[in-house]
Amino acid sequence: MWISFAGIITNYKDVKQFLVQKGHKFRSDTDTEIIAKLIKHIHGLHPNYSFRELVEQVIQQLEGAFALCFKSMHFPGEVVATRRGSPLLVGIKTKTKLATDHIPILYSKDVFEFGGRALSTRDRDHRPHGHEIPAHGLARSQSTSEFLPQGDNKEVEYFFASDASAIIEHTDRVIYLLDDDVASVEKEGVLKIHRLKRTLEDTHAREITTLKMEIQQIMKGNFSSFMQKEIFEQPESVVTTMRGRINFDSETVVLGGIKDYIGEIRRCRRLLLIACGTSYNSAIATRQLLEELTELPVMVDLASDFLDRNTPIFRDDVCFFISQSGETADTLMALRYCKQRGALIVGITNTVGSSICRESHCGVHINAGPEIGVASTKAYTSQIISLVMFALMVSEDRISAQPRRSEIIQGLRNLPDQIKEVLELDSKIQEISKKVFEKKSLLVLGRGYNYATCLEGALKIKEITYMHSEGILAGELKHGPLALVDKGMPIIMICTRDNVFVKCMNALQQVTAREGRPILICHKNDQEPQKYGSSVLEVPKTVDCLQGILTVIPLQLVSYHVAVLKGCNVDCPRNLAKSVTVE
Ligand code: UD1
Ligand code: MG
Repeated sequence: MWISFAGIITNYKDVKQFLVQKGHKFRSDTDTEIIAKLIKHIHGLHPNYSFRELVEQVIQQLEGAFALCFKSMHFPGEVVATRRGSPLLVGIKTKTKLATDHIPILYSKDVFEFGGRALSTRDRDHRPHGHEIPAHGLARSQSTSEFLPQGDNKEVEYFFASDASAIIEHTDRVIYLLDDDVASVEKEGVLKIHRLKRTLEDTHAREITTLKMEIQQIMKGNFSSFMQKEIFEQPESVVTTMRGRINFDSETVVLGGIKDYIGEIRRCRRLLLIACGTSYNSAIATRQLLEELTELPVMVDLASDFLDRNTPIFRDDVCFFISQSGETADTLMALRYCKQRGALIVGITNTVGSSICRESHCGVHINAGPEIGVASTKAYTSQIISLVMFALMVSEDRISAQPRRSEIIQGLRNLPDQIKEVLELDSKIQEISKKVFEKKSLLVLGRGYNYATCLEGALKIKEITYMHSEGILAGELKHGPLALVDKGMPIIMICTRDNVFVKCMNALQQVTAREGRPILICHKNDQEPQKYGSSVLEVPKTVDCLQGILTVIPLQLVSYHVAVLKGCNVDCPRNLAKSVTVE
């Protein structure tokens, strides 16, 4: 059995328990495997069922959101695909024109009732479909097979994908499947779409849509660039990072890729987080929480510097390597260096099958979805969430940490809605960007959990606007950077109500005393800092360790708008590549 699966099966434990009772053995702890075992089980019970009927039985037992594609050695040359909650489409590629632009739906329950159990599938499908409802005036005598290409060349290819962008290079004709549609390609190359039950709302046919857009356009949707699209995807990407891993009601967190190593991790000497660029900033963003919840010493290093120093590494060290692509050369070399010295190697990556994923002992896929813009945005927020989930998991059995864990888990639950709220600042941020885009430099100030936001915000601005920008720890102000401040120097300052708020207010006053008029990022309706700002971006309040996710998004948007105003290529900044696979 070969299964391609996207999504999450929420009742997979129950199904697994049932199958274990029936004597099935499992090799992994994935929900993918229960699907394969379940179809095998049903096939054992009903050897006469067609492939499509088996799949129909399987999906009736599954709860959750999924898109599935099945192949089996028992049914050579056949494919069955279905979805519920996750997107799935069928691309059709033929040499000649198709005879129809619809595929009528076949209703299995009807077929059962009218045809009776005794008929084999093939008999059933070839019966005249007199009892079915005509779709869009399509006469029922036109059976599904007539959708085959016209003319001599009957060659046809099918593509199953979650998104049109994946298949557009092969064909522009697609059928978007609806929830619980079961599409099967049978031996003769005929595509049929079945549903178990007929409902009144259903249109009784699926239209073959011709995509008119260019590949890039399809992928970008209504956005002007991938980066903008990815910034606006964050309410969803953070959810996919957490999906299947956090149970908000029982307040438990399970990272499937790490759970077998958690004992070893708890016993280690120290945690090292090693990365470059934005991934490094995500380590800075979570270091404090990792120290708090794991009670271990935590070192954060830039991969290149780590290698330059020949840092001592021990067998009882746990080393994290964070990389969106999983191919970052410096990070990969640091990984090999630590692996050679016997440390436990943990990968945090967005790319399944990447070098870091393969060469690490265990890890977490951040599941943010493909990130195409060179400047990382949604991967950053998902990396933070992955590391926060790791901290929550390590501290699960510490009774004294429970109120803190609970507060963070509830914070994560509310995060997607709060991100949406921050994204609504977009037009205000565009206005603010008009005030700074012609300046030479932009300083970003903050401290505590927001320090990482300063570094990451400044990095975004440098990367895509080519403007000088610097993230400055507010605590360092009087040790040098204050000399830069005067009324002409553009400054963004982050000042949220956390344990360093008073210190931040102090820094803010030092800046205003030198006639600096910073743009402020602060909590909604917080009057106190607002009176010192030239303009204010108000973000919702969340737990301190998650606040950086809500404060970085306005800076992602500032960099985007400034780049657009300056006429820069947002997705492909000069001199930079998406995956830095060379030293
Ligand atoms: C896995 C499945 C997911 C399924 C879920 C439910 C994959 C890729 N993920 O997710 O589709 O829904 O089970 O049971 O099949 N790993 C590394 N290095 C890394 C990242 C990951 O070695 O940098 C390893 C992990 O240790 C693990 C495997 O890759 O063995 C998959 O990791 P991950 O996708 O994070 O695991 P789950 O969330 O459990
Ligand atoms: Mg691995």
